[in-house]
Amino acid sequence: MPLEFETAVQRSAALLRERAGAAALPTTAVVLGSGWGGLATQVQDAVEVPYGDLPAFPPIGVGGHAGRLLIGRIGAAPVMVLCGRKHAYETGDAAAMKGVIRTLAAAGVRTLVQTNAAGSLDPALPPGEVMLIADHLNLVQRSPLVGEVGNERFVDLAEAYSAALRARAQVAAKALGRPLREGVYAWMLGPQFETPAEIRMLQRLGADAVGMSTVPETILARHAGLKVLALSLITNLGCGLADVTLSHHQTLSVAEQAGGQAVTLLCAILDALNNEVAAA
Ligand code: HPA
Repeated sequence: MPLEFETAVQRSAALLRERAGAAALPTTAVVLGSGWGGLATQVQDAVEVPYGDLPAFPPIGVGGHAGRLLIGRIGAAPVMVLCGRKHAYETGDAAAMKGVIRTLAAAGVRTLVQTNAAGSLDPALPPGEVMLIADHLNLVQRSPLVGEVGNERFVDLAEAYSAALRARAQVAAKALGRPLREGVYAWMLGPQFETPAEIRMLQRLGADAVGMSTVPETILARHAGLKVLALSLITNLGCGLADVTLSHHQTLSVAEQAGGQAVTLLCAILDALNNEVAAA
C-alpha cells in the first residue's frame, strides 16, 4: 500500500480515539444502508465525527447528506455508527470503502455489522422483511483487494458472515417473535436494476436477495480480521416477479415504511452481541 494511504488510516484512527476522549472506542461498528438510518437517532451520548474530518474516508454526498460517524451507545452496547457508504457503482472502484474498513480495524473494531436494502428473489420473502445474510455471490467478480500484496490477500471466505454472530442475532430476533430468514445475497454492480432474465439467473444460482453493496466491505473486513454480520431490508421483489416499477424512490419509500421495525430488531441484535462480548 502507498505510504500516504497507511498514514491516512493511522491518522483517522488516532482522530477517532481523540474524539472519544477518555472512553475506550467501541469494538462494534454498524454501517447504515437505505432504510436503516433511524438507528442513528438511537445512539446515546453520541460524539459526531464528519467523514470530512477523517482523511482515509471517502467523500459521500448521496441525497444531500454528508457522511458522518457517531461514537456512542445503543442501550448498554458501545457502538460506532457509520451513516453513509460509498458504492462501487459510483466510480467503478470496488475498494471505495477500503479506507473506512482499515480505519475501523486500526481503531480496534472487531465486529462489523452491515445493513442494506435489497430486492428479494423469493415471493415468500416479501418487502418489509429482513434477511440475515448467510453467504454471498460476488457476481461482479471484482475485488477490493486487487493491488494488495502478501499472502493475507488470499482470504478464506468459508465464513464470510460469522456463524456465531448469526446465532446470537437469531436468539435476539426470536425473542422479538421475528425469527430471521437466512439467505444468500448476490452483489450486482448497478446502478441500474436487474432485468427479468437476470433475476431468473440469480434464482437459479441460489441467491435469495440481490443488491448493490456490502460484498466489497465484507471482503475488506475479513481481510482485516473483522467478523461480519449483515442484514438486508427487503424493499421489493426482483424485477419481473411483481408488477412494480423499480426506482430509487420506490426503494426509499418502502425502506422508510419498514425501517422502524428493522431498526428495533437491529437494536436488539446489537444488545445481544454486546452481552456476548460482556460474557466472554
Ligand atoms: N436490485 C438491486 N438492488 C436493490 C434492489 C433490487 O431489486 N432493491 C433494493 N436494492
